[in-house]
Amino acid sequence: MNSLPNFDERIERRGTHSAKWDMMEPLYGVPSDSGIAMWVADMDFRPPACVQAALESMNAHGVYGYFGDDRAYVAAIRWWMQHRHGWEVAPSSIFTTHGLVNGTALCVDAFTEPGDGVVLMTPVYHAFARVISFAGRKVVECPLAVEDGRYVLDIPGWDALLTGNERMMILCSPHNPGGRVWSRQELQEIAAFCERHNLILVSDEIHHDLVMPGHKHTVMPVAVPEVMDRLVMMTATTKTFNIAGAHIGNVIIPNEALRARFQRRLSAMGISPNSFGMAMATAAYSPEGAAWVDALTGYIDGNRRLFDEGVNAIPGLRSMSLEATYLAWVVFAGTGMEPGEFTERVEKQARIAVNHGPTFGKGGGSFLRFNLATPRDVVQEAVERLKGAFADLQ
Ligand SMILES: Cc1ncc(COP(=O)(O)O)c(C=O)c1O
Repeated sequence: MNSLPNFDERIERRGTHSAKWDMMEPLYGVPSDSGIAMWVADMDFRPPACVQAALESMNAHGVYGYFGDDRAYVAAIRWWMQHRHGWEVAPSSIFTTHGLVNGTALCVDAFTEPGDGVVLMTPVYHAFARVISFAGRKVVECPLAVEDGRYVLDIPGWDALLTGNERMMILCSPHNPGGRVWSRQELQEIAAFCERHNLILVSDEIHHDLVMPGHKHTVMPVAVPEVMDRLVMMTATTKTFNIAGAHIGNVIIPNEALRARFQRRLSAMGISPNSFGMAMATAAYSPEGAAWVDALTGYIDGNRRLFDEGVNAIPGLRSMSLEATYLAWVVFAGTGMEPGEFTERVEKQARIAVNHGPTFGKGGGSFLRFNLATPRDVVQEAVERLKGAFADLQ
């Protein structure tokens, strides 16, 4: 790679149509000029130079016609999955969607009928429930348990919750929020649960490259090869390389019959690739992209330690220890405050825009989610503001 990335650089994002920075005041009342945006899951960093170069080359050419010939894109995905995740992907199993919320919606459409239940391990990424409900399906919440301050499965509890009306489960691996990297044993238990209840397993692994040093993520097809016939994998470059605005994702389906069903929905919706996203993703899945991700995860790990140390020193607050993702999940239950009060302190006194726990489903009520993918001095500033907002508890 050309040079080491400087994640410490502060890049002004206000006034760039950024959801995270330009919508915090209209949505949360956190002032645009002095607020810190720690909600939407994108990063305040530029992607690796190879991604910028791919766009610059398109701009230099200057003709922006329809995209065709995805061989380089498919080869890049296969290289990345093989080198980074030890997973050999068949070219014919890869579909391209306009991001993974779009991929989730297509799966819900393709593999379930109105009224069917779709299982989620809650609290979990909020867009899943939104897509399921708006599609007229039922969200079936299987709450995660907390053991020693981290999320764990509760398979016997979930077995008892299912009614037989469920058709699909959406797994978030690694988990957002809470940052768990599921162990092979846990992935096997989830696969067996899907087998027992005859559920299609959609594994959203959008965070699978953002794993903290010392932890190892295993992609579902490697952890449980036997689950392949009911498995739909969702992966993307967008979270890993901070190119979410490109709206591009992969839905990878090993089973031929499921592939045919998915293809029908894709055709029915008239979905075809966005050439900017294809070029950026192809460039990102490269040795240069890999070196950048290694530097990134080291940097986020430093932010995570700084944040946890500061926040956990505030009586009543506890940040779950992240094994993956850059999304700190902080529980305020120990303050004895109602969610309205601790949220108001964070938003109005500390002037930090965060995601509200209840939007993630059951079990999220006393949490707020903080995005740590920002220069370290911004994390430091956020910690100082939180200490100030809860100073009366010290
Ligand atoms: C688990 C998960 N899936 C999907 C997405 C969003 O995917 P996309 O931007 O590709 O629609 C996110 C964003 O935070 C996420 O956390």
